[in-house]
Amino acid sequence: MQPESKLWSLVLLVLMGTELTQVLPANPEESWQVYSSAQDSEGRCICTVVAPQQAMCSRDARTKQLRQLLEKVQNMTQSIQVLDQRTQRDLQYVEKMEVQLRGLETKFRQVEESHKQNIAKQYKAIKAKMEELRPLIPVLEEYKADAKLVMQFKAEVQNLTSVLSELQEEMGAYDYEELQNRVSDLEERLRACMQKLACGKLTGISDPVTIKTSGSRFGSWMTDPLAPDGDTRVWYMDGYHNNRFVREYKSMADFVTSDNFTSHRLPHPWSGTGQVVYNGSIYYNKFQSHIIIKFDFKTSSISKSRPLDYAGYNNMYHYAWGGHSDIDLMVDEGGLWAVYATNQNAGNIVISKLNPNTLQVIKSWTTNHPKRSAGESFIICGTLYVTNGYTGGTKVYYAFHTNSSTYEYIDIPFQTTYSHISMLDYNPKDRALYAWNNGHQVLYNVTLFHVIRSDEL
Ligand SMILES: *[C@@H]1O[C@H](CO)[C@@H](O)[C@H](O)[C@H]1NC(C)=O
Ligand SMILES: *[C@@H]1O[C@H](CO)[C@@H](O)[C@H](O)[C@H]1NC(C)=O
Ligand SMILES: *[C@@H]1O[C@H](CO)[C@@H](O)[C@H](O)[C@H]1NC(C)=O
Ligand SMILES: *[C@@H]1O[C@H](CO)[C@@H](O)[C@H](O)[C@H]1NC(C)=O
Ligand SMILES: *[C@@H]1O[C@H](CO)[C@@H](O)[C@H](O)[C@H]1NC(C)=O
Ligand SMILES: *[C@@H]1O[C@H](CO)[C@@H](O)[C@H](O)[C@H]1NC(C)=O
Repeated sequence: MQPESKLWSLVLLVLMGTELTQVLPANPEESWQVYSSAQDSEGRCICTVVAPQQAMCSRDARTKQLRQLLEKVQNMTQSIQVLDQRTQRDLQYVEKMEVQLRGLETKFRQVEESHKQNIAKQYKAIKAKMEELRPLIPVLEEYKADAKLVMQFKAEVQNLTSVLSELQEEMGAYDYEELQNRVSDLEERLRACMQKLACGKLTGISDPVTIKTSGSRFGSWMTDPLAPDGDTRVWYMDGYHNNRFVREYKSMADFVTSDNFTSHRLPHPWSGTGQVVYNGSIYYNKFQSHIIIKFDFKTSSISKSRPLDYAGYNNMYHYAWGGHSDIDLMVDEGGLWAVYATNQNAGNIVISKLNPNTLQVIKSWTTNHPKRSAGESFIICGTLYVTNGYTGGTKVYYAFHTNSSTYEYIDIPFQTTYSHISMLDYNPKDRALYAWNNGHQVLYNVTLFHVIRSDEL
């Protein structure tokens, strides 16, 4: 790695270190507060209670409206707290970096002005260092803008909270519609801000951590990115064809320490290692077909199945390692995707966004990358990343951005400790890559880089 990119990764790692899930509030049923509760002279409820069970107030439409506003504000407050903690912590780090940078710049100018022969060498060294660091300055400035935005949100939410609290005492003194608009507006902006803070471009992959050693050379394993907090069930599929038994481990801890699992028998065997578990269902490619099946674990039944039109199957357009890996299903921040190839696209990779309920294609993108020469691929924030191989000196070297339908060549190396990789998928909840590495279940953390431009806010 170049020293420059090392430095970048360092800063970016700090910027992106918080998991998306932490931004979401915990169970609101538990975290709500009672603001006030009172009865009028006839015993009619006039409360503006924000509590889990306040059905007694539901007759009063205005109170209901208020309650919803308060709930929204409450939700926002929690989100902002997380954002705030993160930006404050990161800002300290970023500010320290900035001081160092500016100091270096000053020193550099002094040296430049003095023109002394004997420091020519020193001058060169500092100049080189400066050139490495210069791109960081705009990043620092962008980051400070993020922090300022969070402060602004905080002030607005505080204002709304106090306005809403005043309402307890003086019902009807405020314009509800205006209040409602302010809450909606704030909510929308906050959501957009968080989405941007949470997403970004892949800039680094950590060293792998081996979670477990089990199974054959080929297989797949995963957790459900939409599982509720505390549900860390692990789903495990050994082999790439002619198997139909999915193992369920009660938790990640169980998976690591035991071989205690429940088996689910699928109605049809699978093909390849492209399965994905999403919102309580497994999506997989039915053996010797281009049919996608959605199987609901709760009801133990197929809730939908549909052919993926034009998709090559049966080792027609597999990944470089073979193994019937023609159709790869995956999930990112934006939902469910299928990655495959078609004759129409001359065997090059096609990316399709799927409706998770109907399995219909919402939109497709055709790339210029041959599927058969791709090692593996995964999607993060709507960008497809392709590796150059599946053993030894592997790197992510091709990226296709669905937002702009453009591609670029990149160079992000990662370790494949046990040689053969037969599955590599991103989990947006953990911000991790799950890999099946020659009978080892392995995790990688990813570093994502985002810049919020002020004109996007
Ligand atoms: C508050 O957040 C919870 C959990 O995310 C959600 O179910 C609820 O609808 C939110 N309330 C409002 C008013 O947005
Ligand atoms: C809240 O903001 C409004 C206008 O945006 C302002 O009139 C009001 O004084 C503010 N309230 C508080 C408590 O800051
Ligand atoms: C598309 O996404 C990539 C990576 O996330 C980003 O670098 C690029 O600026 C985006 N392009 C547009 C047009 O939004
Ligand atoms: C295996 O899991 C079951 C239920 O999931 C539990 O009752 C049992 O005690 C576990 N056995 C071991 C050895 O952990
Ligand atoms: C997940 O499933 C639940 C019910 O099974 C459904 O209400 C919810 O909309 C689903 N979420 C997504 C993102 O599909
Ligand atoms: C990823 O990062 C988290 C938080 O820093 C850490 O707990 C975890 O062990 C890391 N996982 C890997 C695979 O490096």
